[in-house]
Amino acid sequence: MDNILIEGGVPLKGALPISGSKNAVLPLMVAALLSDEALILQGTPRLADTLHLAHVLRELGAEVEAFGEARDEGLRVQVREITSTRAPYELVKKMRASFWVLGPLLARAGQAQVSLPGGCAIGTRPVDLYLQGLRLMGAQLDMENGYVIASAKNGLRGAQIDLPFISVGATHVLMQAASLADGETCITNAAAEPEVIDVGQCLQLMGAQIEGLGTNTIRIKGVSRLRGATYRVARDRIEAGAFALAIAASGGDAQLMGVNADILGSLRPVLETIGVAIEAQENSLRIIGQQDRLTATSISTAPYPGFATDLQAPFMGVMCCAQGESQIRETIFENRFMHVQELVRMGANITLHGDTARVRGVAQLQAAPVMATDLRASIALVIAGLAAQGTTRIGRVYHLDRGYERLEEKLSQCGARIWRERDS
Ligand code: EPZ
Repeated sequence: MDNILIEGGVPLKGALPISGSKNAVLPLMVAALLSDEALILQGTPRLADTLHLAHVLRELGAEVEAFGEARDEGLRVQVREITSTRAPYELVKKMRASFWVLGPLLARAGQAQVSLPGGCAIGTRPVDLYLQGLRLMGAQLDMENGYVIASAKNGLRGAQIDLPFISVGATHVLMQAASLADGETCITNAAAEPEVIDVGQCLQLMGAQIEGLGTNTIRIKGVSRLRGATYRVARDRIEAGAFALAIAASGGDAQLMGVNADILGSLRPVLETIGVAIEAQENSLRIIGQQDRLTATSISTAPYPGFATDLQAPFMGVMCCAQGESQIRETIFENRFMHVQELVRMGANITLHGDTARVRGVAQLQAAPVMATDLRASIALVIAGLAAQGTTRIGRVYHLDRGYERLEEKLSQCGARIWRERDS
């Protein structure tokens, strides 16, 4: 397995291009199942996860082609006919978002057999909300040998779906299914995440009738058919946030390219509180760290517009060497603290108290061999490695490849000493 090596202590300077959003493009690719015409997704990032989902979609009958030059690539996904309605365990277990094909398969083909995704490193991650919502829309659902066996012989019908709490995935699946259902669906406690807006806007271009995107109540009037569309995927707010934190941790001064300040959302005031200056420029955002240690502050993760759980680990990476104490509370996933032990190996002072990590900043982190445990934990280790003294070796970097496009190339263009050691 490959390793990433980082020799710390270099402030990042220069320009960091922000790729298309992973968590938008995955449900957008799934949405291609809703139409027999082509969905063209511009600005698709080239990631292990997008390649994997392309594989899943091909199994179901999709033609998936990449087009364009490196750095402005796209995907063309067309499902003229759904040739299989079965998403097998071997494919779904590798990436949870594969389970999301359940909604469109059921809506367009009237049946689906999709493997339950199982838990993953960050928590048990059940799918009960998806299933409850689809049942309310008239689907028959049974569990057999680890699979959800779903059918809707007479098609799905609109329904009132009151989600007990916010789930991004359930919102994606139910919104997509409702787009082809008979009648109106109203989802309350829907996710307002920018990625849900992205998918909703693309569905609108495909002919769906959706209102309330970006709020917690989404109304969808089902239509009998959706057409193809060309849609540009939004930039990745999680990558932008992680890079802003990396610049801050390294005491650098660099630009996030192709984005404006909105992309940082609730991270922006937090960055300002800890001593990072942010300057909006034309088509870029300048992030200015400081020579002295940053000031510690506390955060608690929450659904959008709260502090994103996907930025919790990288934020902790920065707090490890801030001045003072930070309380970091994780409210979305029950086990998203696996980076803690790895950061401690680098000299961080962190203790866990239930859903809260107490981080007392140290003056200097030390390089160490560490292991990536999940996607966002991995970038926390990269950030810590950039700030640490010595050369940090990060193992299991396939986690990073799932969600960060050309990471070493982007960071080294800003002066970071980061390279990949390929396993022979
Ligand atoms: C999406 O996961 C993202 N994944 C996650 O990003 C992100 O962390 C998460 O939303 C929260 O923002 C993608 O977009 C591909 P949820 P999702 O359903 O949809 C519980 C990353 O690193 N729940 O909003 O799976 C669930 O267990 C990834 O890029 C149920 O109990 O998240 C969790 O505790 C990781 N029953 C909470 O809800 C259900 O039926 C929120 O999860 C569904 C969810």
